[in-house]
Amino acid sequence: MSNLEIIKQFPSDFLFGVATSSYQIEGNSYGSSGTCHWDDFAKNTGNVINNENGSIACSHYIKYQEDIDLIADAGFSAYRFSFSWPRILPQGKGTINPEAISFYDRLLDEMLQKDLKPFGTLYHWDLPSAFGKKGGWKNSDTTKWFADYTDIIMKRFSDRLYSLATINEPWCVSWLSHYLGEHAPGEKNVASAIKTMHMILLAHGRAMQVIRTHNFKNAGIVLNKQLVVPFDETEESQLAASVSDEIHNLWFDEAIFKGRYPSKTLEMFQKYMPEDYETDMDMISQSIDWVGVNYYTRSIIKSDKTEPFLGFSPVKGNLPTTDMGWEIYPEGLEYLVKRLHEHHSKSIPIFITENGMANNDFVENGIVDDIRRINYYYTHLQKVLRLIEANVPVKGYFAWSLLDNFEWAFGYTKRFGLVHVNFVTQKRTPKRSYYQFQKSLRNQ
Ligand code: FCB
Repeated sequence: MSNLEIIKQFPSDFLFGVATSSYQIEGNSYGSSGTCHWDDFAKNTGNVINNENGSIACSHYIKYQEDIDLIADAGFSAYRFSFSWPRILPQGKGTINPEAISFYDRLLDEMLQKDLKPFGTLYHWDLPSAFGKKGGWKNSDTTKWFADYTDIIMKRFSDRLYSLATINEPWCVSWLSHYLGEHAPGEKNVASAIKTMHMILLAHGRAMQVIRTHNFKNAGIVLNKQLVVPFDETEESQLAASVSDEIHNLWFDEAIFKGRYPSKTLEMFQKYMPEDYETDMDMISQSIDWVGVNYYTRSIIKSDKTEPFLGFSPVKGNLPTTDMGWEIYPEGLEYLVKRLHEHHSKSIPIFITENGMANNDFVENGIVDDIRRINYYYTHLQKVLRLIEANVPVKGYFAWSLLDNFEWAFGYTKRFGLVHVNFVTQKRTPKRSYYQFQKSLRNQ
Protein backbone atom coordinates (compact mmCIF):
# COMPACT_ATOMS: atom_id res chain seq x y z
CA MET A 1 0.00 0.00 0.00
CA SER A 2 1.42 3.36 -0.92
CA ASN A 3 1.19 6.45 1.29
CA LEU A 4 -2.26 7.94 1.71
CA GLU A 5 -3.86 5.23 -0.41
CA ILE A 6 -4.30 3.70 3.02
CA ILE A 7 -7.45 5.81 3.29
CA LYS A 8 -9.25 3.29 1.09
CA GLN A 9 -8.89 0.67 3.83
CA PHE A 10 -11.07 2.60 6.29
CA PRO A 11 -14.75 1.79 6.88
CA SER A 12 -17.05 3.70 4.55
CA ASP A 13 -18.66 5.70 7.39
CA PHE A 14 -15.29 6.81 8.83
CA LEU A 15 -15.02 10.61 8.76
CA PHE A 16 -11.96 12.35 7.37
CA GLY A 17 -11.70 16.03 8.07
CA VAL A 18 -9.37 18.94 8.70
CA ALA A 19 -9.10 21.07 11.83
CA THR A 20 -8.39 24.76 12.46
CA SER A 21 -9.04 27.25 15.26
CA SER A 22 -10.47 30.76 15.27
CA TYR A 23 -7.55 32.80 16.64
CA GLN A 24 -5.04 30.98 14.44
CA ILE A 25 -6.78 31.74 11.14
CA GLU A 26 -9.65 34.26 11.27
CA GLY A 27 -7.81 37.51 11.91
CA ASN A 28 -9.45 39.11 14.91
CA SER A 29 -8.97 42.69 13.73
CA TYR A 30 -11.88 42.04 11.33
CA GLY A 31 -15.59 42.22 12.06
CA SER A 32 -15.62 44.24 15.33
CA SER A 33 -14.20 41.36 17.36
CA GLY A 34 -13.01 41.97 20.91
CA THR A 35 -9.46 41.07 21.84
CA CYS A 36 -8.34 37.99 23.71
CA HIS A 37 -5.59 37.18 26.16
CA TRP A 38 -3.36 36.08 23.27
CA ASP A 39 -3.40 39.68 21.98
CA ASP A 40 -2.35 40.84 25.43
CA PHE A 41 0.30 38.12 25.84
CA ALA A 42 1.74 38.85 22.39
CA LYS A 43 2.24 42.53 23.27
CA ASN A 44 5.07 41.62 25.64
CA THR A 45 8.30 41.23 23.75
CA GLY A 46 9.69 37.74 23.85
CA ASN A 47 6.40 35.90 24.34
CA VAL A 48 5.78 35.28 20.63
CA ILE A 49 8.47 34.93 17.97
CA ASN A 50 8.79 38.18 15.96
CA ASN A 51 6.18 39.75 18.25
CA GLU A 52 3.42 38.52 15.94
CA ASN A 53 -0.22 38.08 16.86
CA GLY A 54 -3.47 36.84 15.31
CA SER A 55 -4.88 40.18 14.22
CA ILE A 56 -4.64 39.27 10.51
CA ALA A 57 -3.62 35.59 10.65
CA CYS A 58 -4.91 33.91 7.44
CA SER A 59 -7.68 36.49 6.84
CA HIS A 60 -10.08 33.56 6.97
CA TYR A 61 -12.80 35.99 8.12
CA ILE A 62 -12.62 37.40 4.57
CA LYS A 63 -11.53 34.31 2.64
CA TYR A 64 -13.69 31.68 4.36
CA GLN A 65 -15.46 30.65 1.16
CA GLU A 66 -12.19 29.90 -0.60
CA ASP A 67 -11.08 27.91 2.45
CA ILE A 68 -14.28 25.89 2.69
CA ASP A 69 -13.97 25.18 -1.05
CA LEU A 70 -10.47 23.84 -0.46
CA ILE A 71 -11.75 21.45 2.22
CA ALA A 72 -14.63 20.23 0.09
CA ASP A 73 -12.54 19.95 -3.08
CA ALA A 74 -10.10 17.66 -1.30
CA GLY A 75 -12.97 15.27 -0.56
CA PHE A 76 -13.04 15.72 3.22
CA SER A 77 -16.44 15.20 4.83
CA ALA A 78 -16.00 17.09 8.10
CA TYR A 79 -14.54 20.39 9.27
CA ARG A 80 -13.42 21.03 12.84
CA PHE A 81 -13.37 24.78 13.55
CA SER A 82 -13.78 26.90 16.68
CA PHE A 83 -15.99 29.80 17.66
CA SER A 84 -14.21 32.88 18.90
CA TRP A 85 -15.67 33.92 22.26
CA PRO A 86 -14.48 37.58 22.01
CA ARG A 87 -15.75 37.84 18.44
CA ILE A 88 -19.23 36.89 19.63
CA LEU A 89 -19.03 38.75 22.94
CA PRO A 90 -16.36 41.47 22.66
CA GLN A 91 -16.49 42.05 26.44
CA GLY A 92 -16.84 38.33 27.16
CA LYS A 93 -20.45 38.84 28.28
CA GLY A 94 -23.26 41.27 27.64
CA THR A 95 -23.68 42.73 24.18
CA ILE A 96 -23.51 40.29 21.29
CA ASN A 97 -21.58 41.38 18.18
CA PRO A 98 -24.02 41.02 15.23
CA GLU A 99 -21.17 40.78 12.71
CA ALA A 100 -19.93 37.68 14.50
CA ILE A 101 -23.32 36.01 14.40
CA SER A 102 -23.54 36.80 10.70
CA PHE A 103 -20.02 35.43 10.11
CA TYR A 104 -20.67 32.07 11.81
CA ASP A 105 -24.08 31.86 10.12
CA ARG A 106 -22.41 32.24 6.74
CA LEU A 107 -19.59 29.88 7.66
CA LEU A 108 -21.96 27.13 8.79
CA ASP A 109 -24.25 27.56 5.82
CA GLU A 110 -21.28 27.35 3.51
CA MET A 111 -20.14 24.10 5.15
CA LEU A 112 -23.57 22.54 4.91
CA GLN A 113 -23.94 23.59 1.32
CA LYS A 114 -20.67 21.81 0.56
CA ASP A 115 -21.76 18.71 2.50
CA LEU A 116 -19.21 19.19 5.25
CA LYS A 117 -20.18 18.12 8.76
CA PRO A 118 -19.54 21.04 11.15
CA PHE A 119 -17.55 19.99 14.25
CA GLY A 120 -17.55 23.14 16.38
CA THR A 121 -15.34 23.86 19.40
CA LEU A 122 -16.44 26.39 21.99
CA TYR A 123 -13.00 27.26 23.36
CA HIS A 124 -9.73 27.02 21.47
CA TRP A 125 -7.83 29.44 23.67
CA ASP A 126 -9.17 32.89 22.80
CA LEU A 127 -10.22 33.99 26.28
CA PRO A 128 -11.76 37.50 26.15
CA SER A 129 -9.25 40.10 27.43
CA ALA A 130 -11.84 41.38 29.91
CA PHE A 131 -11.72 38.02 31.72
CA GLY A 132 -7.95 37.68 31.45
CA LYS A 133 -7.81 40.86 33.51
CA LYS A 134 -10.09 39.30 36.14
CA GLY A 135 -7.83 36.30 36.73
CA GLY A 136 -8.76 34.27 33.65
CA TRP A 137 -9.32 30.58 34.31
CA LYS A 138 -8.14 30.91 37.90
CA ASN A 139 -11.35 32.76 38.63
CA SER A 140 -14.28 30.39 39.08
CA ASP A 141 -16.60 33.09 37.68
CA THR A 142 -14.98 32.49 34.27
CA THR A 143 -16.56 29.02 34.26
CA LYS A 144 -19.99 30.64 34.71
CA TRP A 145 -19.40 33.20 31.97
CA PHE A 146 -18.31 30.31 29.77
CA ALA A 147 -21.63 28.59 30.45
CA ASP A 148 -23.48 31.78 29.44
CA TYR A 149 -21.47 32.00 26.23
CA THR A 150 -22.24 28.32 25.56
CA ASP A 151 -25.93 29.10 25.84
CA ILE A 152 -25.61 31.80 23.15
CA ILE A 153 -23.83 29.39 20.80
CA MET A 154 -26.48 26.75 21.38
CA LYS A 155 -29.34 29.17 20.74
CA ARG A 156 -27.85 30.55 17.54
CA PHE A 157 -26.03 27.65 15.95
CA SER A 158 -26.90 24.24 17.43
CA ASP A 159 -29.43 23.58 14.68
CA ARG A 160 -26.57 23.36 12.19
CA LEU A 161 -23.79 21.77 14.24
CA TYR A 162 -23.07 18.10 13.68
CA SER A 163 -20.91 17.93 16.78
CA LEU A 164 -19.67 20.24 19.53
CA ALA A 165 -16.58 20.15 21.75
CA THR A 166 -16.42 22.20 24.94
CA ILE A 167 -12.69 22.75 25.50
CA ASN A 168 -9.68 22.18 23.27
CA GLU A 169 -6.78 20.65 25.21
CA PRO A 170 -7.34 21.41 28.90
CA TRP A 171 -3.70 20.50 29.69
CA CYS A 172 -2.49 23.34 27.46
CA VAL A 173 -5.02 25.78 28.92
CA SER A 174 -3.85 24.98 32.44
CA TRP A 175 -0.37 23.47 32.80
CA LEU A 176 1.33 24.79 29.66
CA SER A 177 -0.09 28.28 30.18
CA HIS A 178 0.20 28.65 33.97
CA TYR A 179 3.08 26.40 35.05
CA LEU A 180 5.36 26.29 32.02
CA GLY A 181 4.28 29.79 31.00
CA GLU A 182 4.65 29.09 27.28
CA HIS A 183 1.12 30.12 26.31
CA ALA A 184 -1.13 33.00 27.35
CA PRO A 185 -1.36 34.22 30.05
CA GLY A 186 2.26 33.12 30.49
CA GLU A 187 2.23 32.49 34.22
CA LYS A 188 4.85 30.33 35.89
CA ASN A 189 3.09 29.70 39.14
CA VAL A 190 2.29 26.33 40.61
CA ALA A 191 -0.75 27.54 42.58
CA SER A 192 -2.29 29.10 39.45
CA ALA A 193 -1.57 26.03 37.37
CA ILE A 194 -3.22 23.64 39.81
CA LYS A 195 -6.24 25.85 40.24
CA THR A 196 -6.76 26.02 36.48
CA MET A 197 -6.26 22.25 36.12
CA HIS A 198 -9.55 22.01 38.00
CA MET A 199 -11.33 25.15 36.75
CA ILE A 200 -11.00 24.23 33.09
CA LEU A 201 -12.67 20.90 33.79
CA LEU A 202 -15.39 22.67 35.74
CA ALA A 203 -15.91 24.93 32.71
CA HIS A 204 -16.30 21.80 30.59
CA GLY A 205 -18.88 20.42 33.03
CA ARG A 206 -20.87 23.64 33.18
CA ALA A 207 -20.90 23.91 29.39
CA MET A 208 -22.07 20.28 29.08
CA GLN A 209 -24.95 21.06 31.40
CA VAL A 210 -26.05 23.95 29.19
CA ILE A 211 -25.61 21.86 26.04
CA ARG A 212 -27.95 19.21 27.50
CA THR A 213 -30.65 21.77 28.28
CA HIS A 214 -30.78 22.31 24.53
CA ASN A 215 -31.16 18.57 23.97
CA PHE A 216 -28.04 18.46 21.88
CA LYS A 217 -26.77 14.92 21.51
CA ASN A 218 -23.29 14.94 20.01
CA ALA A 219 -21.04 16.76 22.48
CA GLY A 220 -17.61 15.97 23.88
CA ILE A 221 -14.21 17.33 24.83
CA VAL A 222 -10.83 17.33 23.07
CA LEU A 223 -7.80 16.09 25.05
CA ASN A 224 -4.20 16.35 23.97
CA LYS A 225 -2.24 13.25 24.76
CA GLN A 226 1.46 12.57 24.85
CA LEU A 227 3.02 9.21 25.40
CA VAL A 228 5.24 9.63 28.45
CA VAL A 229 8.23 7.31 28.67
CA PRO A 230 10.82 7.05 31.46
CA PHE A 231 14.37 8.06 30.52
CA ASP A 232 15.76 4.80 31.94
CA GLU A 233 14.94 1.82 34.13
CA THR A 234 15.72 3.49 37.45
CA GLU A 235 12.95 3.70 39.99
CA GLU A 236 13.30 7.49 40.03
CA SER A 237 12.72 7.81 36.30
CA GLN A 238 9.79 5.37 36.40
CA LEU A 239 8.08 7.31 39.16
CA ALA A 240 8.74 10.65 37.42
CA ALA A 241 7.24 9.34 34.18
CA SER A 242 4.18 7.97 35.90
CA VAL A 243 3.45 11.32 37.59
CA SER A 244 4.06 13.16 34.34
CA ASP A 245 1.64 10.77 32.60
CA GLU A 246 -0.94 11.56 35.27
CA ILE A 247 -0.55 15.32 34.83
CA HIS A 248 -0.60 15.19 31.05
CA ASN A 249 -3.13 12.45 30.40
CA LEU A 250 -4.79 10.68 33.32
CA TRP A 251 -5.78 13.80 35.25
CA PHE A 252 -8.34 14.55 32.54
CA ASP A 253 -9.33 10.95 31.72
CA GLU A 254 -10.05 10.08 35.33
CA ALA A 255 -11.88 13.31 36.12
CA ILE A 256 -14.11 13.07 33.05
CA PHE A 257 -14.79 9.36 33.06
CA LYS A 258 -14.47 8.44 36.73
CA GLY A 259 -15.19 11.66 38.62
CA ARG A 260 -11.87 11.60 40.54
CA TYR A 261 -8.27 12.71 40.17
CA PRO A 262 -5.30 10.31 39.98
CA SER A 263 -3.88 9.68 43.43
CA LYS A 264 -0.14 10.45 43.17
CA THR A 265 -0.76 13.79 41.52
CA LEU A 266 -3.65 14.71 43.78
CA GLU A 267 -1.39 14.20 46.77
CA MET A 268 1.18 16.57 45.25
CA PHE A 269 -1.47 19.10 44.27
CA GLN A 270 -3.62 18.88 47.41
CA LYS A 271 -2.59 22.06 49.11
CA TYR A 272 -3.34 24.17 46.04
CA MET A 273 -6.64 22.57 45.08
CA PRO A 274 -9.66 24.91 45.15
CA GLU A 275 -11.70 24.56 48.31
CA ASP A 276 -14.49 21.98 48.04
CA TYR A 277 -13.32 20.88 44.61
CA GLU A 278 -14.86 17.46 45.31
CA THR A 279 -18.34 18.92 45.02
CA ASP A 280 -17.64 19.72 41.34
CA MET A 281 -16.69 16.18 40.36
CA ASP A 282 -20.21 15.06 39.43
CA MET A 283 -20.62 18.00 37.12
CA ILE A 284 -17.21 17.32 35.55
CA SER A 285 -17.93 13.63 35.01
CA GLN A 286 -21.40 13.83 33.50
CA SER A 287 -21.77 11.73 30.39
CA ILE A 288 -20.34 12.86 27.08
CA ASP A 289 -21.10 11.45 23.63
CA TRP A 290 -17.57 11.19 22.26
CA VAL A 291 -14.01 12.08 23.18
CA GLY A 292 -11.40 13.72 20.96
CA VAL A 293 -7.69 12.93 21.03
CA ASN A 294 -5.05 15.29 19.68
CA TYR A 295 -1.75 13.54 19.21
CA TYR A 296 1.62 14.79 17.98
CA THR A 297 4.54 13.24 19.84
CA ARG A 298 5.97 11.50 22.92
CA SER A 299 7.95 12.88 25.84
CA ILE A 300 10.86 11.33 27.71
CA ILE A 301 10.99 12.13 31.40
CA LYS A 302 13.97 12.14 33.71
CA SER A 303 14.12 12.93 37.40
CA ASP A 304 15.65 16.39 37.88
CA LYS A 305 16.42 17.71 41.34
CA THR A 306 16.76 21.26 40.02
CA GLU A 307 13.12 21.32 38.96
CA PRO A 308 11.51 23.11 41.91
CA PHE A 309 8.05 21.56 42.19
CA LEU A 310 7.82 18.39 40.11
CA GLY A 311 11.38 17.15 40.53
CA PHE A 312 11.52 15.93 36.92
CA SER A 313 11.76 17.38 33.45
CA PRO A 314 11.69 16.25 29.80
CA VAL A 315 14.84 15.33 27.89
CA LYS A 316 15.45 15.17 24.14
CA GLY A 317 15.03 11.82 22.42
CA ASN A 318 16.86 10.55 19.35
CA LEU A 319 14.05 9.85 16.89
CA PRO A 320 13.60 11.97 13.75
CA THR A 321 11.76 15.19 14.58
CA THR A 322 9.40 17.64 12.90
CA ASP A 323 10.08 21.34 12.47
CA MET A 324 8.77 21.85 16.03
CA GLY A 325 11.55 19.57 17.28
CA TRP A 326 8.87 17.01 18.22
CA GLU A 327 9.84 13.36 17.82
CA ILE A 328 7.81 11.39 15.30
CA TYR A 329 6.36 8.43 17.17
CA PRO A 330 3.13 6.99 15.71
CA GLU A 331 3.15 4.06 18.14
CA GLY A 332 2.22 6.53 20.88
CA LEU A 333 -1.08 7.30 19.17
CA GLU A 334 -2.05 3.64 19.07
CA TYR A 335 -1.07 3.00 22.68
CA LEU A 336 -2.80 6.07 24.12
CA VAL A 337 -6.06 5.66 22.24
CA LYS A 338 -6.25 1.99 23.15
CA ARG A 339 -5.63 2.77 26.80
CA LEU A 340 -8.23 5.54 26.80
CA HIS A 341 -10.78 3.16 25.30
CA GLU A 342 -10.02 0.23 27.60
CA HIS A 343 -9.64 2.09 30.88
CA HIS A 344 -11.84 5.13 30.53
CA SER A 345 -14.01 5.95 27.55
CA LYS A 346 -15.15 2.32 26.97
CA SER A 347 -17.75 2.16 24.23
CA ILE A 348 -18.07 5.86 23.41
CA PRO A 349 -16.75 6.97 20.02
CA ILE A 350 -13.25 8.39 19.80
CA PHE A 351 -12.22 10.95 17.21
CA ILE A 352 -8.63 11.81 16.39
CA THR A 353 -9.33 15.52 16.43
CA GLU A 354 -5.78 16.66 15.56
CA ASN A 355 -2.68 15.04 14.14
CA GLY A 356 -0.08 16.48 11.82
CA MET A 357 3.38 18.01 11.58
CA ALA A 358 5.18 21.29 11.07
CA ASN A 359 7.53 21.30 8.13
CA ASN A 360 9.82 23.92 6.68
CA ASP A 361 7.71 24.30 3.52
CA PHE A 362 8.25 26.70 0.64
CA VAL A 363 6.68 27.23 -2.76
CA GLU A 364 8.87 26.48 -5.76
CA ASN A 365 7.43 26.82 -9.26
CA GLY A 366 3.95 26.74 -7.74
CA ILE A 367 4.63 23.45 -5.93
CA VAL A 368 5.12 22.64 -2.24
CA ASP A 369 6.82 19.28 -1.99
CA ASP A 370 6.06 18.19 1.59
CA ILE A 371 6.79 14.51 1.27
CA ARG A 372 7.73 14.24 4.96
CA ARG A 373 4.23 15.31 5.90
CA ILE A 374 2.72 12.65 3.65
CA ASN A 375 4.81 10.06 5.46
CA TYR A 376 3.79 11.45 8.84
CA TYR A 377 0.11 11.13 7.98
CA TYR A 378 0.58 7.72 6.44
CA THR A 379 2.38 6.23 9.44
CA HIS A 380 -0.16 7.63 11.90
CA LEU A 381 -3.15 6.55 9.80
CA GLN A 382 -1.72 3.03 9.76
CA LYS A 383 -1.98 3.04 13.55
CA VAL A 384 -5.56 4.31 13.40
CA LEU A 385 -6.38 1.45 11.09
CA ARG A 386 -4.88 -1.01 13.56
CA LEU A 387 -7.06 0.46 16.30
CA ILE A 388 -10.17 -0.02 14.19
CA GLU A 389 -9.11 -3.60 13.43
CA ALA A 390 -8.81 -4.12 17.20
CA ASN A 391 -12.42 -2.90 17.60
CA VAL A 392 -11.52 0.41 19.21
CA PRO A 393 -14.40 2.71 18.21
CA VAL A 394 -12.38 5.38 16.36
CA LYS A 395 -14.88 7.13 14.13
CA GLY A 396 -12.97 9.95 12.49
CA TYR A 397 -9.62 11.60 11.86
CA PHE A 398 -8.86 15.31 11.46
CA ALA A 399 -5.61 16.51 9.93
CA TRP A 400 -4.06 19.49 11.67
CA SER A 401 -4.27 21.73 9.81
CA LEU A 402 -5.96 23.05 6.69
CA LEU A 403 -3.76 26.14 6.52
CA ASP A 404 -0.37 27.32 7.70
CA ASN A 405 -1.39 29.66 10.49
CA PHE A 406 -0.52 31.54 13.69
CA GLU A 407 1.22 28.80 15.65
CA TRP A 408 0.87 30.44 19.07
CA ALA A 409 4.23 31.29 20.68
CA PHE A 410 5.97 30.38 17.40
CA GLY A 411 4.08 33.08 15.50
CA TYR A 412 4.08 32.42 11.75
CA THR A 413 7.35 30.47 11.73
CA LYS A 414 5.90 26.93 11.87
CA ARG A 415 3.90 25.57 8.97
CA PHE A 416 1.36 22.83 9.76
CA GLY A 417 -0.97 23.28 6.76
CA LEU A 418 -2.04 21.00 3.94
CA VAL A 419 -2.28 24.35 2.18
CA HIS A 420 0.59 26.84 2.15
CA VAL A 421 -0.25 30.42 3.06
CA ASN A 422 1.79 33.40 1.94
CA PHE A 423 1.24 35.73 4.88
CA VAL A 424 1.98 38.84 2.78
CA THR A 425 -0.40 38.19 -0.11
CA GLN A 426 -2.68 35.65 1.66
CA LYS A 427 -2.32 33.40 -1.38
CA ARG A 428 -3.21 29.75 -0.70
CA THR A 429 -1.14 27.06 -2.44
CA PRO A 430 -2.22 23.45 -1.82
CA LYS A 431 0.78 21.30 -0.94
CA ARG A 432 1.58 17.86 -2.24
CA SER A 433 0.05 16.39 0.96
CA TYR A 434 -3.24 18.14 0.12
CA TYR A 435 -3.27 16.55 -3.34
CA GLN A 436 -2.45 13.16 -1.84
CA PHE A 437 -5.44 13.37 0.48
CA GLN A 438 -7.55 14.49 -2.46
CA LYS A 439 -6.45 11.59 -4.61
CA SER A 440 -7.20 9.01 -1.94
CA LEU A 441 -10.43 10.54 -0.64
CA ARG A 442 -11.85 10.98 -4.10
CA ASN A 443 -11.13 7.33 -4.97
CA GLN A 444 -12.43 5.93 -1.72
C1 FCB B 1 -2.31 21.78 19.34
C2 FCB B 1 -3.28 22.93 19.24
C3 FCB B 1 -3.36 23.55 17.88
C4 FCB B 1 -2.00 23.61 17.20
C5 FCB B 1 -1.33 22.28 17.25
C6 FCB B 1 0.02 22.25 16.56
O1 FCB B 1 -1.85 21.66 20.65
O2 FCB B 1 -4.59 22.50 19.58
O3 FCB B 1 -3.97 24.80 17.99
O4 FCB B 1 -1.26 24.61 17.75
O5 FCB B 1 -1.15 21.90 18.59
